[in-house]
Amino acid sequence: MSKSFKRTLVTTALPYANGPVHLGHLAGVYLPADIYVRYQRLCGHDVVHIGGSDEHGVPITITADKEGITPQDVVDRYHAMNVEAFTRCGISFDYYGRTSSPRHHETAREFFLDIEKKGIFVRKAEKLFFDAKAGRFLSDRYVTGTCPICGSPDANGDQCEQCGTHLSPLELIDPKSKLSDATPELRETLHWYFPLGRFQKQLEAYVEGHGESWRQNVVNYSRTWLNQGLADRAITRDLSWGISLPLDEEDAKGKVLYVWFDAVLGYISFTKEWAELQGDAERWKRYWQDPDSRIVNFIGKDNVVFHTLMFPAILMAWNEGRSEGCYELADNVPASEFMNFEGRKFSKSRNYAIYLGEFLDRFPADTLRYSIAMNYPENKDTDFSWTDFQNRTNGELADTLGNFIKRSVDFTNTRFGGEVPCGTTPEEWNSLGIDWQESLRKIGEAYDGFHFREAATLTMDVARFANRFLTEAEPWKVIKVDPEAAARTMAVSLNLCHALSLLFYPIIPGTCDRIRDMLGLEGSVGSLAAPGRPVWDGAALPGMKQGHRLKGSSEILFTKIEQKDLEPELEKIARLLAEAERRESGAQQQKMAFKPVISFDDFQKVDLRVARVLECEPVKKASKLLKMKLQVGSEERQVLSGIAGHYKPEEMVGRNVVLVANLAERTIRGELSQGMILAVEGNDGRLYVVEPQGDEIIGNSVQ
Ligand code: 2FM
Ligand code: ZN
Repeated sequence: MSKSFKRTLVTTALPYANGPVHLGHLAGVYLPADIYVRYQRLCGHDVVHIGGSDEHGVPITITADKEGITPQDVVDRYHAMNVEAFTRCGISFDYYGRTSSPRHHETAREFFLDIEKKGIFVRKAEKLFFDAKAGRFLSDRYVTGTCPICGSPDANGDQCEQCGTHLSPLELIDPKSKLSDATPELRETLHWYFPLGRFQKQLEAYVEGHGESWRQNVVNYSRTWLNQGLADRAITRDLSWGISLPLDEEDAKGKVLYVWFDAVLGYISFTKEWAELQGDAERWKRYWQDPDSRIVNFIGKDNVVFHTLMFPAILMAWNEGRSEGCYELADNVPASEFMNFEGRKFSKSRNYAIYLGEFLDRFPADTLRYSIAMNYPENKDTDFSWTDFQNRTNGELADTLGNFIKRSVDFTNTRFGGEVPCGTTPEEWNSLGIDWQESLRKIGEAYDGFHFREAATLTMDVARFANRFLTEAEPWKVIKVDPEAAARTMAVSLNLCHALSLLFYPIIPGTCDRIRDMLGLEGSVGSLAAPGRPVWDGAALPGMKQGHRLKGSSEILFTKIEQKDLEPELEKIARLLAEAERRESGAQQQKMAFKPVISFDDFQKVDLRVARVLECEPVKKASKLLKMKLQVGSEERQVLSGIAGHYKPEEMVGRNVVLVANLAERTIRGELSQGMILAVEGNDGRLYVVEPQGDEIIGNSVQ
């Protein structure tokens, strides 16, 4: 750490209270944050961990509509479920709030009003789809239709699941309302926009100021947005569920804050609620408004720009013109990549997931925590597999750590009356073959740098060292010829047990408390440390005094996972995979199904021409699209095509293509598209444009 901080505020992305959290969420956000927080606490740092449920947003109302219940019922159900799962998994939030709380509504409105009064928001009238049958404006997700890029018939108004393109509902072909299936009509409505561009320079300085310390993925995502130039973002929606606008004017009626404007402010509201519970309502300010505080936002990679650009811009807008009560921006935003499950992406909507609560019904939290820490998706996507989970549990936790602790405690209980038989001098301790200071420094650096896999690996190395030490010293043999030497071995082993109970605490806290209990040590590991009272460094010293009495009994810390224990899981995964394959082959068959017969006259209406690509460039904020200028005979046309993933712009220039020349013009991403070019999907999934050869045929018709 380059700067030292007086205190740290850790926040974790607020999961939507619209479904149970799954292992992907745990791996990306909550477990790393918890490990980090537990380590910082052991170091005696003042750290507060804030999380909570994101209880607004359209997916929640869609669930409520589907189930015929109220949005409040939905969020009550999943908030309770997720709190329980996190608690069972040992995620140690200092406070876990809900964005439906009055304090949060008040905070979000306060921000909105402050920025509104400063005249920063821009109001824009726009035409949005309105379902006249349902009497409601339709937010993006309530509109479905045909994807203009790949032709999939059930693209959502915000994104096409088939080809992944981000869309606007207006781009859909043949749009339909999900509420009534009616064709929606365009109606004018007024919305509040946040002018991100106004903060472009400040945001650039903010991101570049952290270019060295933030993860590459975080810097890259942010730079991509900054390089494209920041546009105005709508921060209101026509919805009934959410935080209504605190304005008493006709235009504000029926509108709520966009869920993302409100969710990030949840971090602040929840810190206020936490402070109130501490009996010091002003205490939250120390974490948010003091430059000596450090703020760390743990998130998944899909949330990066909301945390590195939008949330900071909201805080910058608040800070504008203020000399007091200014907010600090996050010092780090460790965004994870994704952890897949048996080679596939977790997907709630496709029911391909293991939910945290379900997992904990079958296996202990610490085995999961350890396996995930060893698979932490820090810089690239990783995979969680049952076999890996079984191997780590059996080989590393049970055979190495558990076995070492049990052998140490059992042998002391049976052969030394359950007492630490002698002291271990610092000289003895330091000549074991492990450089304690160096080891602790490296593990600590790994935690501070958010390298959780490295920290877990280095910690398991200490357990391997301890296990080997005991095995090689063979006290069960030595005791027959040299009882004193065996006693020294056992004293060292018990000290190693003690050291391991501290070192492993961030990763497997429940197990560490059980180790302490067997060692006859009072209090949980977590209760030993407090701000200004570190215990982490204690792992570098012998901590067990001669004559100290162990509890007198031992327990098996980790039960090995037999193949039969995994069978239900393997069956389930086989079923989920088969379902996924069925869905995919269904989509494939759908692709193979021929379209209805058309008449020759109909076909004759399509005007296909050979065109030459004169210019080609990417389209801002549409990573799938290329914009081309085409020569068709003596005419020039501009055409957008979803082939950016398959051709670089410069590869297209100079090629001949086949143009559907009489297709009605469309505007996609604010750009005019005057036609469409033909391409074939190869068996490798790539698109290959159809290329008639020859200079002299430009403009000719294709028959
Ligand atoms: O992506 C999500 O699940 C959002 N609910 C994350 C919100 S993070 C933060 F803003 F609270
Ligand atoms: Zn598509």
